[in-house]
Amino acid sequence: MSVSASDLARAAACLRAARRLAVFTGAGVSAESGIDTFRDAGGLWQAFPPEQFARWGGLVRTALVQPRRLAGFVLRVLQPIAVARPNAAHRAIAQAEHFVEIAVVTQNVDGLHQDAGSTIVREIHGSLFKVVTLRRRFVRLLARRDLARLTERLERATRSWVALPRLLLALRPLAGLGWRGIVRPSAVLFGEGLVQPDWNQALDDARRCDVMLVIGTSGVVLPAALLPVEAHASGARVIVIDPDEPATADVWLAGTACDVVPRLFALAFGVNDGAA
Ligand code: OAD
Repeated sequence: MSVSASDLARAAACLRAARRLAVFTGAGVSAESGIDTFRDAGGLWQAFPPEQFARWGGLVRTALVQPRRLAGFVLRVLQPIAVARPNAAHRAIAQAEHFVEIAVVTQNVDGLHQDAGSTIVREIHGSLFKVVTLRRRFVRLLARRDLARLTERLERATRSWVALPRLLLALRPLAGLGWRGIVRPSAVLFGEGLVQPDWNQALDDARRCDVMLVIGTSGVVLPAALLPVEAHASGARVIVIDPDEPATADVWLAGTACDVVPRLFALAFGVNDGAA
């Protein structure tokens, strides 16, 4: 798999001519930071089916009947995120703000675009660091080290017998019952609405951008997958960076985020490729 020089040059020319850039990312942009994608071979949904682990009904049933299995799911999600660092793609996107107006729209809940230094980040599927009430009122912001401590506690708890109260105790302060009622991470489950105002802002970004750079998303989850369609319908060029061929794109750069994104920005703006 290698990107052709002419496709890279075409994409770089689009970026150079753009006044507003929207960068739309999915799990693939964080894969090289050690975080699993959902639908690739060995991805999260293969081991933990979303019907059981990404919907309220399934989650509550699993918590009651198989708390140990739920603890396994939570650990699989949290552990890599708790120790993750932004990769060369996250950093190159952040650095490119010196050259063009950029709004990052991400489906990821891992906080890595912010850690890399991107200033406008719409988290349309929420965040694992933001704790909210069931009515989505803000409760607290956690740091990455809080998630690391929580995963250590949870790991210790799962070494022996796991009962629901023990699991709930280990999950605090990310989720559970507090003086504000039930609290949870703002990460959205299937069947829930997207996070506001981020979603409306993302639609606006898609309609106003000259170029949308789509990185590492299978584009099968609605309504997020409508953003490139919306951008294209509004006259923007859509450039896709992904090892897998997308359904539609003006330019497809077949490769991984860390390989292609720094090279693309370096060619477009002459920036350091952030590999340090
Ligand atoms: P998916 O797992 O569906 O897709 C990951 C995409 O990343 C695929 O197109 C891969 O080819 C690509 N990919 C893999 N490794 C890559 C790399 N190193 N560099 C670039 N691309 C790479 O993940 P998403 O599209 O993000 O939602 O999934 C969308 C939503 O589905 C998620 O936000 C989540 C999930 O269910 C909820 O849970 C609500």
